[in-house]
Amino acid sequence: MQQILNTLIINTLYYSEPMSLLILSCHFKEPPCTIDRFMENPKTYFVRTYGCQMNELDTQIMTGQLEKRGLTAVCDEEEADVVIFNTCSIRDLAERKVMGKLGQLGRGKKRQIIGVTGCMAMAKKDSLFRKFPHLDFVVGTNNITDLGPVLDEVIYTQKQVYKTDDRFEENLDYLSAKRDHKVKAFVSIIRGCDKFCTYCVVPYTRGQEVSRPPESIIEECKKLVDDGYKEITLLGQNVNSYGKDEPSWNCLFHDLLAKIDQIPGIGRIRFMTSHPVDITKELMLAIRDLPSLCEFVHFPIQAGSNRILKKMHRIYTKEQYFEKVALLREIVPDVSLGTDIIVGFPTETEEEFLETYQAIEQIRYSLGFFYAYSPRKGTPAMRWKDDVPEEVKQDRLQRLLDLQEKIGNDLRKEKTGNTYEVLVERFNKDGKLLKGRTRRWEKVIFEGPESMIGTLQNVRVHSYHHETFLGTLVHSETKYHN
Ligand code: SAH
Ligand code: SF4
Ligand code: F3S
Repeated sequence: MQQILNTLIINTLYYSEPMSLLILSCHFKEPPCTIDRFMENPKTYFVRTYGCQMNELDTQIMTGQLEKRGLTAVCDEEEADVVIFNTCSIRDLAERKVMGKLGQLGRGKKRQIIGVTGCMAMAKKDSLFRKFPHLDFVVGTNNITDLGPVLDEVIYTQKQVYKTDDRFEENLDYLSAKRDHKVKAFVSIIRGCDKFCTYCVVPYTRGQEVSRPPESIIEECKKLVDDGYKEITLLGQNVNSYGKDEPSWNCLFHDLLAKIDQIPGIGRIRFMTSHPVDITKELMLAIRDLPSLCEFVHFPIQAGSNRILKKMHRIYTKEQYFEKVALLREIVPDVSLGTDIIVGFPTETEEEFLETYQAIEQIRYSLGFFYAYSPRKGTPAMRWKDDVPEEVKQDRLQRLLDLQEKIGNDLRKEKTGNTYEVLVERFNKDGKLLKGRTRRWEKVIFEGPESMIGTLQNVRVHSYHHETFLGTLVHSETKYHN
């Protein structure tokens, strides 16, 4: 609980400076003339996490390392000896939030060690020290294993330190990650992205794709099962590329899924995110055949116009995307789908936006994340003028939100009255009803005892409020739509 408070996850769900192959370690601040006794032994920490699930997991790995050093979490960032901002660069707003916070910190009476990690660390590197002279360290996404040595260097030299390698080396201590949930866990299977969509900073802030060895993944999944975890979400910017960078392993994404499904006692497996081009028939068959693999696929279309898709370098056409959806629905008829959409990409016309609108109407996603295009420094799209006015972007966003609300409600109406297998995760915010999810990622709340947390229950959904189903427990012998 303390960790939940301590680690603020802001779900908002990238061309860095010139590449360097060396581990950089640079000093800017002159050492003070008296030794600051506090700096020798920091005791508490606070991590504020921004961005996606990959950042959330990186925070868990970093806090695991801090706790191994004997530091403990505190809820108030002003009280912490070490404050870390694990940052996101995906859109301008994400960066502005952090810049605002960083400006405020370091002005209090208490001496703190303040660090920036995550994607902004990669996008801005040591330029952060010029803007924020009170910042002590910057650690990039490929160096989280170096957090301890960086802290030591800050403490012993009292100088600003940064480490921002461009390539990820597979030596992370995943097993010590400090998880904030007892039922569900994230497991990283591949880092980086090789797709280079023209609008996106991820290939620059996370580097090229590096798959994690299957043995290491299996070892962690087995440990999670032994520790009582009931659901594992396999993470990567494009999980479907898994294993392609290491052909000698002979283990592609669907092979990995089959191995994990074999782990005795494994509960549910989920995965995110998938690039439509890499979704294979083998994966679809795995979703159909592997008992633990849930029937929900988040594979963003991004736009419905072929001209815009080409300009985005998404490397598929609308027709090819629709073919994948049709094949997936033929193989797994009741699969649920999720998407991300960008509106107002440079030169997007009203007619082209309407093609996106119609694609959503036709596919009927159960979950949609919609974003206004935000130009990112260093990305190829920066060479085009951001020419769709902000009001037009906001209007397009609103129309998609309204459409998705209608589709979501229609889908929920169709499902009302059915009974589903629900993994009970925790008490709902009201503290009275239990909250869980179906295999297709629908939220369900219902009345039941605390002892049901972490178990699978059959729940008949009788109504819904916004995106949440309200349900009642049914006896296990009742036939259910699993
Ligand atoms: N790897 C994932 C996406 C990670 S980023 C994938 O390809 O599916 C999450 C989402 O942020 C993207 O899908 C995209 O919709 C959005 N996004 C990325 N860059 C953006 C930008 N410059 N402006 C607005 N939205 C962006
Ligand atoms: Fe970004 Fe495209 Fe890679 Fe997704 S696939 S992380 S949108 S470059
Ligand atoms: Fe943000 Fe980096 Fe994730 S830019 S979305 S935290 S990969």
